[in-house]
Amino acid sequence: MEFLDLVKNRYSCRKFCDKNVEEEKLLQILEAGRLAPTAMNHQPLKIFVVKSAQSLEKLRGITRMAYNAPVVLMVCYDKDLCYRALNYNDEHECGDMDASIVTTTMMMQATELGLNTLWARGFNAVEIARGFELPENLKVSCLLDVGYADPIEGGPSPRHPVRKEMGELVEEL
Ligand SMILES: Cc1cc2nc3c(=O)[nH]c(=O)nc-3n(C[C@H](O)[C@H](O)[C@H](O)COP(=O)(O)O)c2cc1C
Repeated sequence: MEFLDLVKNRYSCRKFCDKNVEEEKLLQILEAGRLAPTAMNHQPLKIFVVKSAQSLEKLRGITRMAYNAPVVLMVCYDKDLCYRALNYNDEHECGDMDASIVTTTMMMQATELGLNTLWARGFNAVEIARGFELPENLKVSCLLDVGYADPIEGGPSPRHPVRKEMGELVEEL
């Protein structure tokens, strides 16, 4: 599939069917994330695969954002490892950006494999870290829910087709 068609096909899925994510597809998604770039190649990411009944139940007890996905990828970064740019009088750390490009790459790989996804950040990261007893240095950046869309209720929300016009989005300086 052309990349732009893939981008057009992707949407946020909030209702999944019972079908599990095949192990080889999950591995391919994770491999895509592993190969994504990070600032200065610091690779501060840590991805937790949440798919056991026990872990999914725990996560759903903390946040609604796992919905009923059979697999949730909990994308974290190590605050001590991520690149901290101190130059140009514009100090910033790149952990969330690194996590975003890794998540985006996994999301598009999942789409290419015929899976559906939801990127979610509507949760309390501290509560998740506490619930799963994550090491102090790890910050939960986002969740990527992965599964197969429910054929009836798993379609795109009304927000999906709403995008700015090109002329509003892009401007030449
Ligand atoms: C950074 C980020 C955070 C998001 N957080 C949530 C969330 O917490 N809950 C949710 O249901 N959707 C969440 N979404 C999905 C967006 O609402 C969705 O991408 C947007 O409305 C456009 O719809 P579409 O993905 O179907 O095109 C998030 C998306 C991004 C990129």
